[in-house]
Amino acid sequence: MKIDILSIFPEYFSPLDLSLIGRARSAGLLRVDVHDLRRWTHDVHRTVDDTPYGGGPGMVMRPEPWGEALDSLVSDDSVLVVPSPAGEPFTQAVAGELARASHMVFACGRYEGIDQRVIDHFSGREISLGDYVLFGGEVAVLAIVEAVARLIPGVLGNADSLVEESHTDGLLEAPVYTKPASWRAHEVPEILRSGDHGRIARWRRDRSLERTARRRPDLLDPDALSPRDLAALTE
Ligand code: ADE
Repeated sequence: MKIDILSIFPEYFSPLDLSLIGRARSAGLLRVDVHDLRRWTHDVHRTVDDTPYGGGPGMVMRPEPWGEALDSLVSDDSVLVVPSPAGEPFTQAVAGELARASHMVFACGRYEGIDQRVIDHFSGREISLGDYVLFGGEVAVLAIVEAVARLIPGVLGNADSLVEESHTDGLLEAPVYTKPASWRAHEVPEILRSGDHGRIARWRRDRSLERTARRRPDLLDPDALSPRDLAALTE
């Protein structure tokens, strides 16, 4: 997958050199290019913003630099993502959709956002990281790139990690433990040390259901649950 990121703060993206994303880039599974939007300005001050039509606080990003930048980066195969608190919620399902794209372009807005005509002209998909407001789209892009990149075949060493994790099956993941078996008088649940894979799988499923019901009841879909699941929830 090829990713182009446009921002007035390209330095924000140095974490993409690290860890598994950095390794995926070195392995040629992922190519990421970060571009400074100001490259497409033509005045001495390299202006990217102006006051909003209709009045109101803050500044809005002007369409011209965005138009020129996106003309040079977006093609018919590209998916343009514009992070915005007014966008559709980012979920694991959206990450899965985006992971199928061959080319993604991210347009990071700052201030009050990007002139809407840019987003409409280039058919941008506005995506929100959550119901809170960040200074700009950069942190949202880091999160979206990480969630998408790990779904690209070959990026995660162990593809099994994708199978049982939180949100893949619509539930929160069960708690996890490692050695030592006893730590500060807290014991690892006995069943996980039993070697009985059937009972362990059932225990994990029950803990997933219990956690989801307690922390994220909005995620529980009774129609997707087996009679055994429903019984575990009402115990
Ligand atoms: N830009 C500012 N706030 C944001 C949010 N919550 N999600 C995505 N982009 C944003």
